[in-house]
Parts: sequence; structure tokens; C-alpha cells
Amino acid sequence: RGQKEAADGAAVDAMRTMLDSVNIRGTIVIGEGERDEAPMLYIGEQVGCATTPCVDIAVDPLEGTNLVAKGLPNSIAVLAVAESGRLLHAPDIYMHKIAVGPAAVGCIDIDAPIKDNLQAIAKATDRLVNDLTVVVLDRPRHAEMIREIRQAGARIKLITDGDVAPAVAAAIPDSGVDMLLGIGGAPEGVLAAAALKCLGGEMQARFWPENEEQTARAQAMGVRDIRAILTHEDLVHGNDVIFAATGITDGDLLRGVRYQGIKARTHSLVMRSKTGTVRFIEAIHRLDLKPVLKDLLARQE
Ligand code: FBP
Repeated sequence: RGQKEAADGAAVDAMRTMLDSVNIRGTIVIGEGERDEAPMLYIGEQVGCATTPCVDIAVDPLEGTNLVAKGLPNSIAVLAVAESGRLLHAPDIYMHKIAVGPAAVGCIDIDAPIKDNLQAIAKATDRLVNDLTVVVLDRPRHAEMIREIRQAGARIKLITDGDVAPAVAAAIPDSGVDMLLGIGGAPEGVLAAAALKCLGGEMQARFWPENEEQTARAQAMGVRDIRAILTHEDLVHGNDVIFAATGITDGDLLRGVRYQGIKARTHSLVMRSKTGTVRFIEAIHRLDLKPVLKDLLARQE
């Protein structure tokens, strides 16, 4: 419907409502913004209906607001859950990211020339640089990066929005994606890092503030050195994180929601790093039998 704010609002409402039905005491550490700018799922908000376990939650109820508004593929609803203090408290500013799958762990360096990273990935995966595909957000700020990737001989898949799903895809065999590179949202970076922990991939990052105000905001959230490289461990600490994503519109990774009267069919990816279990879940939901959703639907009518 071309209404990205309304789509985001509906996603926030639904995720907030469902989180309150879960037996956790959750604290939103990455969400819709500061308390004064977001009515729900704001940073610091408590969710869940129990007093334990205490967990931190990073959410992006609608990753790819433009994609949904325009009916384009690859929008997802996504969250990550970990023990308190394990997820980087990332402000809503940009972050430079590099993400690869398990075969290339230990081979990447965010500060190395792009061609060196590509050659290292090619060597680690026993392929040629010409056979590698890098996903990059199609933005003017990436012009030089795109030129360097092409000069090195790799393929580029340019995307209009949504850099979490392609980071996940880089760690999924046969996805056709070998690396995610470029500057996107920092909160999305932490979510992607959680997924890559579960899949055994690697991510490195660095905040990319656009002005002093953003640097100050990051510092107020506990970031000591805004220029420091953030290792995968800095982004998600330890090895017990849960990542879940559900397709909203059809995508390369997940199919989108399909409605059949009062039923909705969803396709999700649920993973836990501690056990390494990766579940693709196809579910049919009876909306009329889910009281919280029923109330929500009634409010929206
Ligand atoms: P929204 O869902 O909040 O619109 O963000 C989508 C997204 O494409 C992210 O996946 C990405 O990290 C970021 O926006 C890129 O930001 P920008 O559109 O400013 O380049």
C-alpha cells in the first residue's frame, strides 16, 4: 500500500503483543529507538510474562520497510535473544560490515583491501574470485567499494534494502552469496551477527557515524572507541544466542506470509548457536484461536 510507517507500526504492534505471551523477562536492547521516540519496543522496555529467565532481546519487527511498502521481495521480521549483556547495544547509526560463511572464518579483515579479502575467501572455499558473489546495498556511498569489487573480478548482487537476510545467506551453502559488504544499519549488524554465530560464519564491523551527535549518542550507550573494529565476539558475546526470522514478503531465504481466510501460513528460520540447530519452520496459524492476535486484529479494523 506504499505505507512504510503503517507497515512498521503493524509489525511492531504484533511482535510486542506476542512477546508478552512468552515466559521470559526480556529487555529490549535493540529496538525501535529511544523511549521518547518509540511507543513500543523501545530500548530498555521490558517484555514477557515471567520473572525469569532474564534475557536481552534485539528486534527488527520489519526489516525492509520500503520492501513491504512497495511489495518487493526479501522483507523479514527478525529477532535475537541472549543472556543479559551478550548483545552489543548498538545505536541506530550506520555500521561498516563484512560477513562471510563458515568456510571463510578467520580469513577476513575489515581493514584489508577488498581484493585481498576476496582472494582469501576464494582460497578458503577452493574457488576463483570470479566465481564469488558479494551482496552490497545499492547506495552512492558504496560507489568506490563497488568499483573495487568489480576490478577484483567478483560478481555483485546489488540490493535496494534489507542487509540482514543476505548476511545470513552468506553462511548458507548454495545460497549463491559469499559475502555481505558495506555500510548499513548498526542494529541490523548485531542481528546479522547473531545469525552468523548460529551458522558458524563470521562478521566484523565498525561504527560509521555521520556526525558528532551520532558519536555522542553511541558513547552515551557505552561505546568507548567509535573507530574500533568490532569483532564477531564484540557484536555477540559468547555462544548462546537464539536467532529467529520470518518471511514477510517472499524472499531468497524465506517465503512470505500467505493468508487463507482466518489462517496465515508462515515460513521461519529459527537457530541456536549453542546447539547449532537450524530449523526451517513452516507454520499454519489460526488467527481466530490466538487471543492476542485476535485483539490486535480487532483494534486494527
Ligand atoms: P528499514 O527496515 O528500517 O527501512 O531498514 C532497512 C535497511 O535496508 C537495512 O537493512 C539496512 O541496514 C539499512 O536500511 C540501510 O540504510 P539506508 O537505507 O539509510 O542506506
